[in-house]
Amino acid sequence: MFNVKKIRKDFPILKRKVNKKPLIYLDNTATTQKPKQVIQSLVDFYSNYNANVHRGLHTLSEESSEAYEQAHAKVGNFIHAKFSKEIVFTRNTTESLNLLAYSLYRTHLSKGDEVLISQMEHHSNLVPWLYLSKKLGFKLNYIQVTPNGLLDLNSLQNLLTPKTKIVSLTHASNVLGTINPIQEIGKTVHDNNSLFIVDAAQSVPHFPVNVQKLNCDFLAFSGHKMLAPTGIGVLYGKEDLLNDLEPFLLGGDMISEVFFDSVTFNEVPWKFEAGTSNIGDGIALGTAVDYLSKLGMENVQKHEQELTQYAWNQMQDLEGIQLYGPKPKYRTGVISFNLKGIHPHDIASLMDQEGIAIRSGDHCAQPLMRELKISGSARASFYVYNTKQEIDRFIFVLKNTIQMFKKK
Ligand SMILES: Cc1ncc(COP(=O)(O)O)c(C=O)c1O
Repeated sequence: MFNVKKIRKDFPILKRKVNKKPLIYLDNTATTQKPKQVIQSLVDFYSNYNANVHRGLHTLSEESSEAYEQAHAKVGNFIHAKFSKEIVFTRNTTESLNLLAYSLYRTHLSKGDEVLISQMEHHSNLVPWLYLSKKLGFKLNYIQVTPNGLLDLNSLQNLLTPKTKIVSLTHASNVLGTINPIQEIGKTVHDNNSLFIVDAAQSVPHFPVNVQKLNCDFLAFSGHKMLAPTGIGVLYGKEDLLNDLEPFLLGGDMISEVFFDSVTFNEVPWKFEAGTSNIGDGIALGTAVDYLSKLGMENVQKHEQELTQYAWNQMQDLEGIQLYGPKPKYRTGVISFNLKGIHPHDIASLMDQEGIAIRSGDHCAQPLMRELKISGSARASFYVYNTKQEIDRFIFVLKNTIQMFKKK
């Protein structure tokens, strides 16, 4: 049973007040709150077995190494990777995608090649490709977004050419909420002999993801968007591809042997984890994965879908509202919107006065904003601890905001 009342007790921050009102946290797409189990896991690490990994033979180092490796295995199981060595810990989705872009461009891309992304990408799956395309002279193409916020699969077919070496797409949009048919797209991409990368920052935290079923080559996500601390992220890659991939950062831990005139590299995943790792946060990510697994990702998805449908039903009829993206059936628990004649920052500020945290701005997707012909939007996003009562309060404040601006 998915018991929200019980879940909420695990999140100390939900007891606090903001502007003398109980906090209602609806900014989960940006980052999620942390349960006491994750916080305790950090306290436990630093209080009881803090030591560097892989180097020492002493007890603390053995304990931290074991816990850190176990965290890789937990994450691997969570996304159904074949082997835990297919899990590389990074800082976040952005670093995972930069690692891929910088490593792949040296071996897989030449002048005249093409990389295909989409118009709904977060800057972290756009800017690295854009920057490198200018430096190296490969072409960057964009799959279009349809007026109802879906990927235009016809434009995918037209844009895939023998020159397309890499296709990198978001699994779920952080603006539109759209869940893209990644498994189906992956087949088309592989039929074209292109590498397939998935930005899973907004999917792995919200619904079950099985990398073997998706058959993607690489997949990236962030711990902080799924109850874990900031500063820890994940790059999944198929073992043989990771073995062939050039290392990104060079130095300690990622080597096997070093001479004055040559170097060989460590096995995966350590080849990609240069320098002292973010050990405590990595272990805490394992705890977050335990927490979500216990809830069951199907249940997490169902809960979010119910909340999204509930909010959507009430929002769609509000005066002067513009909702972005597809109907709730095809989306995650994120709703971007604008109110006619009201700046999104004003909506967010008025919400904050009532203790409600939502986001406003371009959501790190400026090109998509231009496509939508807006400079920004307000955005409410839900997670495991949110309730229908909180949504009622959010709608109440939204209605008041509309009335207030009408009188002006
Ligand atoms: C779809 C998507 N990709 C990538 C990112 C970047 O995540 P991070 O800032 O944790 O690197 C985000 C963050 O909001 C996102 O929503």
